[in-house]
This record gives sequence, structure tokens and C-alpha cells, in this order.
Amino acid sequence: MEIIIQPTPEAATDVAAQIVAQLLRQKPRAVLGLPTGSTPLLLYRELVRMKLNWRGVTTFNLDEYTGLSPEHPASYHSFMRENLFRHINIVEKNIHIPDGMTGNVPAFCKEYEKQIRRAGGIDLQILGIGADGHIGFNEPSSSLASRTRMKTLTVRTRQDNAKAFGKLTQAPHHVITMGIGTIMEARHCLLLAFGKKKARAIAGAVEGPITAMNPASALQLHPKVTVCLDEAAASALKMKRYYRWVFDNKPNWQKF
Ligand code: PGA
Repeated sequence: MEIIIQPTPEAATDVAAQIVAQLLRQKPRAVLGLPTGSTPLLLYRELVRMKLNWRGVTTFNLDEYTGLSPEHPASYHSFMRENLFRHINIVEKNIHIPDGMTGNVPAFCKEYEKQIRRAGGIDLQILGIGADGHIGFNEPSSSLASRTRMKTLTVRTRQDNAKAFGKLTQAPHHVITMGIGTIMEARHCLLLAFGKKKARAIAGAVEGPITAMNPASALQLHPKVTVCLDEAAASALKMKRYYRWVFDNKPNWQKF
């Protein structure tokens, strides 16, 4: 794992944006895995500002609430449209987001996995992390080998996400999410976390044991992971000084 600690969310986002931009320049037909939530907002804004060429790019979103139509303002379809897709030249047919309205969840999930494989697999999977360590919507206790499927949200995650729905009772209980096994097949995972609220989850994911109780800890088994943090999200890491030294002293060939 490469742990990159920057003073602010903006500075950490700049590093992440450079990684995405470099991939899109090197591989114009790249396949990206995309997250939603508050964490990637700065990144999407920066990517829009960079005016990259998205014409050949294919995207797969991590998750969507079940029972929400793509037009629902709190759906992740709406989130992606508003915050990224309507501002870039991506081709509509190359956008994939789980269908929260599907009448056959298992068949849909199987097909989603097939679509990822047919696209050649995910080159770069961008991830946020929940305060409980979830990636995608793989809540604690999720199988570390899980594939795309329906999951039930914890009370904490529903509370964290309730704002978009006005009140907690309106927040869905169920989602369709890529599994941890699905995420682990991406060629490169880029995890972003900002703020004190994420510090414990990050410490567990990076320095804790690999455990389904912190699903992001599965990334310790992945051969290529970059973690971009602000100071607050990094505050509970024991080896902060070492990570900083490594980043500041990267050999030239490793720099982007
Ligand atoms: P957040 O959510 O970016 O809104 O904090 C992250 C997540 O739940 O994965």
C-alpha cells in the first residue's frame, strides 16, 4: 500500500486527480470504478476542471440504493449525473450504475459482473470508506470474497446517509453493491478519506488485522493500492512519519 498524507482534502484530492488523469492519458479506453458520497465530490470537480478526454472511457459505479429510480434526486444515478457525467464527454452507453429498480436482483448482479469482465476488468477503482470501514456498501461482516449483490445497510450508515433523504425513515435499507471480491479484481485501487470521522476506519484498514469487521482491510491483500488522506483522516496511523518519508523520497521513476 502507498499511503499519501496531505495537509488538506484539496491537496490529497490533487494527488488522486493526477493518478486518474495519468491513466486516462496513457489509456484512453480505461475502465474506471467510481464511488459516490461526499468524499469524491472534490475529485469530480477537479477532474471536470482538468477537461480530460472521456470519450473512450467506461465506468462502473460501486453501488445504488434499491427501490430508487435513476431520476430520484437521492439516487446515485442522479449524483453521478450532477457531479460528473453531465460535465464531461463520456459516452452514455459506457456508463454503468447498478439498477436499483431491477425486478431480479440476482440476475442483474450476475450480469453486472459479466459487464465488468466484458469491458476487460477495472483499471482503477476509486473508493471512499465508511466510518465503519465499509467500501462500496460492503458493511462490516461482509464476506471478503463477496461479489455484486444486495446488502442491508447498518443503522450507522443509514444515519450517515439520511441527509440526502430528508429524514432517516426515508433512507433505504437495501442497496446493490459490488462485492469486496469484485473490488479486489481491479488492477489499481485508489482509496480516499478525509476528516477525523474516518481516522479509526483508516487506521484499521491500513494497520489493523485483515478482518471482515473492517472491510477495507481486505485491501492489504491487493497488489496495488494508493491511499490518499488528509491530516485528520491520517491522525490515528501509527507509522505516519514513515509514510511521509516514503512519499517525499520517491525515486523519480515512481513519480507521476
Ligand atoms: P462519504 O461516504 O464519502 O459520504 O463519507 C463514504 C462511504 O460511505 O463510502
